[in-house]
Amino acid sequence: LKKVSLFDNLNDEQLEHILRIAHRRTFTAGTTMFQEKDPGVTFYVVLSGSLKLYTKSLNGEEKVLSLVSAGESFGELSLLDGLPRSASATTLEPTTVLELSSDQFMELLQTHFDITRGILSELSRRLRKTNEHVNDLTFLDGRTRVLKNLITLANQNGKRDGNLISIHMALNYDELAQMAGVTKAVLSDVIRELESRSVLTFGINEYKLNLLKLRG
Ligand code: CMP
Repeated sequence: LKKVSLFDNLNDEQLEHILRIAHRRTFTAGTTMFQEKDPGVTFYVVLSGSLKLYTKSLNGEEKVLSLVSAGESFGELSLLDGLPRSASATTLEPTTVLELSSDQFMELLQTHFDITRGILSELSRRLRKTNEHVNDLTFLDGRTRVLKNLITLANQNGKRDGNLISIHMALNYDELAQMAGVTKAVLSDVIRELESRSVLTFGINEYKLNLLKLRG
């Protein structure tokens, strides 16, 4: 629990209290934990693994809004405003979460101002990110958006070794394309170009970005 940024300022006793009241649950890869428009009854803290949050268009196309990994939380919006879930959540790999009921979540917000402040700061961060994404969709072309997304993923999840950054990423091409807001054809073109220049190399659930070649 110490890795969960929301609980940064809690002491051991308070963390133990959360572990006592919360329910720990593990989902296999590819499990849809809830769907957009479901009633929201649970707040989640990710202990290990990762998942995607996404919405769907009327004809069923997905738009990935965010990736969530260990130490992060989600599912607070519908508990705060009483409206249905604003997005669906599907695990990308085996994922263990702590579940808090709406009442438990509200009680934590009431009794721990640090947690309330953490939630507000997370909501602010997401609004800033969403503004940036709207800006990117408005002003950047598809190729630049793909590059920017790869670099953002590298900054978030990457392990650096000299000029090489390895990124663990349980995402398929469709999901990468949805994140960047491009068609699969545009994504394939950009990836082909990057692979031919050895900027990008792919492994299983992992890719490597060569910063030196990227700058060239
Ligand atoms: P909720 O609406 O209860 O269920 C879906 C969750 O996805 C939502 O709470 C937030 O926690 C999360 N979510 C919704 N939109 C975004 C976004 N744009 N960026 C990151 N997370 C989001």
